[in-house]
Amino acid sequence: METLAARYPSSRLLSDILPNIPIAMNQDALKQAVAAAALDHIPEDSIVGVGSGSTANYFIDALAARKARVRATVASSEASAQRLRQHGISVLELNAVDDIPVYVDGADEITAEFAMIKGGGGALTREKIVAAVARVFVCIADHSKLVATLGRFPLPIEVIPMARAYVERELVKLGGEPRLRAGFTTDNGNQILDVHGLTITDPRRLETELDQIAGVVTNGLFARRGADVLLLGTPDGVRLSRRS
Ligand code: 5RP
Repeated sequence: METLAARYPSSRLLSDILPNIPIAMNQDALKQAVAAAALDHIPEDSIVGVGSGSTANYFIDALAARKARVRATVASSEASAQRLRQHGISVLELNAVDDIPVYVDGADEITAEFAMIKGGGGALTREKIVAAVARVFVCIADHSKLVATLGRFPLPIEVIPMARAYVERELVKLGGEPRLRAGFTTDNGNQILDVHGLTITDPRRLETELDQIAGVVTNGLFARRGADVLLLGTPDGVRLSRRS
């Protein structure tokens, strides 16, 4: 397994202190660090939008230690709602809420312009809805997620099951190679196509184009509503940047 010392040979800290720690394990530490840093972006007594995935799970665990200052949460998946409730944190239906000051979630890829691919965990539709309501989207990610161009991570698309084959044909016309996520059903009862082979140079345009295909519920491009704040976990610490 690749180690940190091998990936960052010039880093004294990494090569002296953490030489044998595998990347995978360190990636978890970076996710934990950004999750903890996100607490600084939660206004007192507010309703917090909470995303899904392993980084969001670390955020939920961090939030549990500060739950007294959170009025309630809105979750972007059943799994996150369950984890929040297990920590004794109140979870509200989105329809019961008219304002979400901040939404905290991970990403599968993010660019310097803060456009993202999301949906690796299959929660993209509810994530996009909660993100749309939220005033501020705080993306928490380890540095492996920062990319120059979106598309190496297969783009998840949630589809109505009866439209799957049609949507697949349309995606092939756009140059993609869709693959059904086998044995997976979304919280909304739909299927996911993971689209390989795309080089996404204009994420806003592709996001809009994909939304026009009948049978597509949501595509995993978050470009029109991208992140506002990025907390990026790096070997040198958490790097904060804001969308300009
Ligand atoms: C789930 C998501 C996640 O935010 C994304 O997959 C990143 O996951 P992780 O934090 O586990 O790397 O979009 O649908």
